Amino acid sequence: WVLMVTAQTPTNIAVIKYWGKRDENLILAINDSISVTLDPAHLCTTTTIAVSPSFNQDRMWLNGKEISLAGGRYQSCLREIRARASDVEDEKKGIKITKNDWQNLHVHVASYNNFPTAAGLASSAAGFACLVFSLAKLMNVQEDNGRLSAIARQGSGSACRSLYGGFVKWVMGKEENGSDSIAVPLVDEKHWDELVIIIAVVSSRQKETSSTSGMRETVETSALIEHRAKEVVPKRIIQMEEAIQNRDFPTFAQLTCADSNQFHAVCMDTSPPIFYMNDTSHRQVAYTFDAGPNAVMISRNRKAATLMLQRLLFHFPPNSDTDLNSYVIGDKSI
Ligand code: DP6
Repeated sequence: WVLMVTAQTPTNIAVIKYWGKRDENLILAINDSISVTLDPAHLCTTTTIAVSPSFNQDRMWLNGKEISLAGGRYQSCLREIRARASDVEDEKKGIKITKNDWQNLHVHVASYNNFPTAAGLASSAAGFACLVFSLAKLMNVQEDNGRLSAIARQGSGSACRSLYGGFVKWVMGKEENGSDSIAVPLVDEKHWDELVIIIAVVSSRQKETSSTSGMRETVETSALIEHRAKEVVPKRIIQMEEAIQNRDFPTFAQLTCADSNQFHAVCMDTSPPIFYMNDTSHRQVAYTFDAGPNAVMISRNRKAATLMLQRLLFHFPPNSDTDLNSYVIGDKSI
């Protein structure tokens, strides 16, 4: 027999960025962060997991290509979910799996991203969130999304925020074992549904510095990162939460842009400096850039979004270097 589940998880874009770890194995951040989860119709990972007594090892395929599960991050997620598995019964198929059976059963995972993988569009966020969520469904794990977020976090820090829709905060936590380092929903996707998010993919090439090694180098070499984590971000988090609650767009836009700028400033302050943006990324508007050159722009209404998109297409006409795709999130079309 074979038992399968499929789940779909959107990616998220941080408006107050996570950059730097206090524990690399457990993936514990040096500051809180806040993100907005995108509409699953546009940028998401779809994961199908199958379990069968005939499988003799855990295997995974990403976008159709087999990848190794040997890395600690995949192993942590599998181990943590298996430890919480409960009995599963499918009467129609005559399948009965006990809590203990799960420890010896192997899974096959097939995962697809409908957007560029590892180009700085938080593909690991959607990927690990979806892996953990679908494993939890398959193995009948009885834990809430907060607890699941702490497991997804061990796959990739930003993944913990993709377990919820709307605006989400990743609380860095204080505990050494990471038990209080979880995602909490701030407001759901209906709270501020006039927001339109545009992602200008100016390059879908794989970024040169991964977030993991980039933030490690920043923590080791930047003189500014401690000031950012201890002084700047804690204040910004409070202001950002208030701006989101009040749907105060001017404050929201100011904080989002300032935080993106400071994140890239600490990257520049890293030795050797990390350049995540290429020349085509620099433009006005309410923007935020992750660890890649692609711009994410947020506006308040369709009209402003349309103008922004027109301006963008004018400035970056698609050519061989610039493959400009624009994803419009939060609205059907513009
Ligand atoms: C710039 O979550 O990809 O997108 O925890 O090492 O997997 P790891 O890093 P990752 O880093 C994301 C960094 C960021 C900011 C953010 O999403 O908060």
